[in-house]
Amino acid sequence: MKGLILSGGAGTRLRPITHTSAKQLVPIANKPILFYGIEDMAEAGITEIGIIIAPVTGDEIREAVGDGTQFGVDVEWIVQDEPLGLAHCVLIARDFLGDDDFVMYLGDNMLEQDLSGFVNGFHRSRTDTLSPTLEESVRDMPSAQILLAEVDDPSSFGVAEIGPDDEVVRLVEKPDDPPSNLALVGIYLFDSSIHEAVASIQPSPRGELEITDAIQWLIDDGRRVCHEVLDGWWIDTGKKDPLLECNRLVLDILDRSVAGEVDDRSSVEGRVVLETGARLVNSTVRGPAVIGAGTIITDSHIGPYSSIAVDCVVNASEIDNSVILRRATITDVPRLTDSLVGRDTVVTRGDSRPRATRVMIGDHCNIEIE
Ligand code: TTP
Repeated sequence: MKGLILSGGAGTRLRPITHTSAKQLVPIANKPILFYGIEDMAEAGITEIGIIIAPVTGDEIREAVGDGTQFGVDVEWIVQDEPLGLAHCVLIARDFLGDDDFVMYLGDNMLEQDLSGFVNGFHRSRTDTLSPTLEESVRDMPSAQILLAEVDDPSSFGVAEIGPDDEVVRLVEKPDDPPSNLALVGIYLFDSSIHEAVASIQPSPRGELEITDAIQWLIDDGRRVCHEVLDGWWIDTGKKDPLLECNRLVLDILDRSVAGEVDDRSSVEGRVVLETGARLVNSTVRGPAVIGAGTIITDSHIGPYSSIAVDCVVNASEIDNSVILRRATITDVPRLTDSLVGRDTVVTRGDSRPRATRVMIGDHCNIEIE
């Protein structure tokens, strides 16, 4: 079994962060989202992983992941010149995938449940298919397994219709009249028949080769597509609020570890990771929270569900429920909440007259002033 992680894409919903950086490298509890997926694959015993990257953000991802040794896997890089869809990623990964079964994982998705149960389930359902002849067994084996999650608002997802024999009979994208409340999660298992499917479908009205169309092609061609319904949480982190929610869920299971410096006027309450080289000066941190190495927090309060990356400076400010990327400086900000702050940014309260809000904001930013 091989792994295919999709880390290209346009990332329009996470602009401006994605103007300069890959959304799959945005940290959740100070670790890039993508790393969780690679680790999950390694734990499931998948050690040959192809990673799809875009020309602009690919180098940064290559640099962060390296050759995969840090995860105990081998990585092959596959550059997708344009974000032409999830099924297009399978098309361009043909040489890497060969005729092996593989798990395809969207690089900005995270799930609570281990991948191994899902992978083993697919393997079992393929090896347990005992039809009278070998030919029939091969025909009756599932060609794909999709992962589904129960959602309250199915009309904003790809939705699966399940038939009476528990097989997937139809997939519909963002339906007005959803056939179920089961949304497609960004993790799929395929055998080599998916290659014929992705080569046979046409681009959708939005110009992409859709993986839902490829799976529907398999169903229409008489192949079996089975499913599993997810137990734990699953988050597509491609937008700010789900990303903050994911950060909260991961921080909630953090173990306390205070390796940084805490002066005698500071306190650290609850589940907090204060990395080596982080410093608290006359400040409180109330967990769950994580503070990266080299970050200095002075005269401030860091509240629950904050992830502050490495080499940040926080002065006379209060922060909670936020993800702050590396080398950001936050000064005299009375309360920063529900925020995603990019790398090398400065957020400060000035005292120049006339009193006013002064900004230099990049394209596609979203600022809410109190
Ligand atoms: P999406 O979040 O569906 O698409 P996107 O990254 O283009 O984002 P947006 O809709 O905000 O513009 O993609 C899911 C994952 O798959 C994500 O990690 C990016 C990746 N992807 C590719 O690698 N190639 C593609 O052609 C597409 C569409 C996505």
